[in-house]
Amino acid sequence: MRYASGVGGAVQGRGGWNVHLDALRQRADGRDIIVLTVGDPDQAPPQRVISATIEALRSRRTGYSPILGVSEVRAAIAARVARRTAAPCAAENVAVVPGAQAGLFCTLRCLAGQGDEVIVPEPMYATYQAVVRGCGAQLVNVPLAPETGFHPDLGSLRDAVTRQTRAIWINSPHNPTGAVLMRSEIAGIAEICQQNDLWLVSDEVYEDLAYARDHVGPWSLPGLCERTVVISSLSKSYAIPGFRFGWIVGPAQFIANLFPLIVSMFYGAPPFIQAGVLPALTEELPEAAALRQDYQRRAMLVAGILGKAANCRVFPPEGGMFVVLDVRASGMSSEAFARKLLEQKEVAVLPCDSFGPSGRGLVRIALTCADARLREAAERIVSLAGQLK
Ligand SMILES: Cc1ncc(COP(=O)(O)O)c(C=O)c1O
Repeated sequence: MRYASGVGGAVQGRGGWNVHLDALRQRADGRDIIVLTVGDPDQAPPQRVISATIEALRSRRTGYSPILGVSEVRAAIAARVARRTAAPCAAENVAVVPGAQAGLFCTLRCLAGQGDEVIVPEPMYATYQAVVRGCGAQLVNVPLAPETGFHPDLGSLRDAVTRQTRAIWINSPHNPTGAVLMRSEIAGIAEICQQNDLWLVSDEVYEDLAYARDHVGPWSLPGLCERTVVISSLSKSYAIPGFRFGWIVGPAQFIANLFPLIVSMFYGAPPFIQAGVLPALTEELPEAAALRQDYQRRAMLVAGILGKAANCRVFPPEGGMFVVLDVRASGMSSEAFARKLLEQKEVAVLPCDSFGPSGRGLVRIALTCADARLREAAERIVSLAGQLK
């Protein structure tokens, strides 16, 4: 049979994902693997969210939702954005989607197509390539260097702009490197967008997990709302990725343009989920604060131990839920290192090859288990590094 081109096989660096799949298989077979591959939070979701979801199911919030989201939920997201950015945001600026991933796809599908280019600093989250290709557009990589702490070089971003460029797509706090962009960097990127009439797409799923400095997104910068699209979710910061709840914030006309796409793709997000997350959108929940502290503490713990790993370089993250380790000086590829670590030390980490060319030689360690086990995993990585070369 024939398949459409452009979608199948678009996720790069599949070898890396095989390490993850093997780890899961081995764990299912009874091996005590410490799995630190994907960013699936280990904490329990907030009690209020669980009870509000159960209550919504009991009261039969099980019909179709309005396509762009339940109005109370859109208003709550808009209020949250306005509160955090001090910039106006109304319900008409918001579309609810089943997870940030769906939000990214819908956004790019609306902004870029055949013959268009989208500039993305890399390493980048593994799905970005597939999203851009799935829209028929071309992803243009701009490398992020370890020397700058994986912060973007504005000159390189500017040089990457061509007549085909439609958008610059940023992600802060960043997956996998943990870099948290400074206001001046966002302002610099915004200026490039303004000068070249580009969209600025901002993936902010880790917005609550910024440690080195406060999270700043482009929606908060003056005069930028007309060309900015922000995608976010509660998946990470409230430990509910399985809820598939996320949102898109953008100009009202852009949100209106999403309507036919959302109708044809998923016909709105589940209403009981939207009701369930309302407490998380409108109140400060203690579990979210505790989760944030968990990741910050774990990041420092793991980065501290990995500082001792021979022929490796660790990058203490400024935010997010991962630590990146450069294993190039060990003489091994990231995949070979991750394989050896799995086979010899029963720890699974993700080779960053799937995150773009600059991910080669890096492995990503998800901070998704309790401190004692994380400490054990980090010490096993140090032990493996000591045995190499
Ligand atoms: C940078 C980034 N963007 C988007 C997503 C997708 O988030 P969601 O689970 O809300 O779809 C992830 C998930 O890992 C991510 O790391």
